[in-house]
Amino acid sequence: MKYYHNKRILVTGASSGIGIAFCRKLASFGADLVITARRRDRLETLARELQAQYDCKVMVIASDLSDPDGPESLFSEIEKSELRIDVLINNAGFGYNGAFVDGKYEMYEQMMQLNMNSLVKLTRLFVPRMIEQGHGGVLNVSSMAGFLPIPFFSVYSATKQFVINFSWSLWNELKGTGVHVSVLCPGPVDTEFFDVAKADKAKAAFRGVQAPGTVAVKGLAGLAENTPLKLSRSLLRISYLLSRLVPIRLGLMIGRLAMSKQ
Ligand SMILES: NC(=O)c1ccc[n+]([C@@H]2O[C@H](COP(=O)([O-])OP(=O)(O)OC[C@H]3O[C@@H](n4cnc5c(N)ncnc54)[C@H](OP(=O)(O)O)[C@@H]3O)[C@@H](O)[C@H]2O)c1
Repeated sequence: MKYYHNKRILVTGASSGIGIAFCRKLASFGADLVITARRRDRLETLARELQAQYDCKVMVIASDLSDPDGPESLFSEIEKSELRIDVLINNAGFGYNGAFVDGKYEMYEQMMQLNMNSLVKLTRLFVPRMIEQGHGGVLNVSSMAGFLPIPFFSVYSATKQFVINFSWSLWNELKGTGVHVSVLCPGPVDTEFFDVAKADKAKAAFRGVQAPGTVAVKGLAGLAENTPLKLSRSLLRISYLLSRLVPIRLGLMIGRLAMSKQ
């Protein structure tokens, strides 16, 4: 994709799953990268792989984005290196599948901090420079779990709905500035997400689990085209349209069936 050629892209959550897939695709499109997550060893391994295969520049910054100071420290470190970020990919995130009262509040707090606050903070920190230079992009990773409220996935689905609404608004606000905004909504993807979320991958399988590479390409195409909301597969269009049409109580029944562990 030409849109990414010679651009410098910041990818959060680059140590696993969809984040690694974004980085591999971007490097193959001729982009340079700044990659971040908490597990530095994994980031360094990925950086070596990409530099060897594509001869691109990859800067590794380990950061914890569930720490309220995480986004600001990441921004300062990039500023210190005098690197200009053309595209921000807010991909880091995690979920929890279980009864709301069984989850620790501290875990929910970290999830809200990572999935929403740090995403907004990084966007607020990087977008002004993009507007100034007249081009740039923000790709936010949400989920089909953000289409409707989902029992037993309650905090996660709420954070992902936040990401969808925020992205739509920002896409509209930034029209005419040269800055693209897109939100990617995947269905189930074959990553470590299910282990982290204590969710049942086999149960998700009947909805069709996608490969991270396929999902990453959809997201990158969405941002390049400045499509405000991009679904990871066409079948999801039915779920998306139904979520706008069905009464919320029916949506809750479907969500409960999909995510309840009983
Ligand atoms: N897999 C799915 O079925 C699916 C479906 C829809 C949407 N999504 C969304 O896709 C995005 C990527 O998830 P994935 O499926 O690739 O899951 P994953 O394999 O578990 O990757 C999650 C990434 O987020 C990073 N991360 C987690 N906590 C962090 C923290 N506190 N600070 C900084 N980075 C942190 C992880 O790195 P470290 O642990 O090294 O920090 C990892 O790189 C998430 O936003 C997720 O909600 C996934």
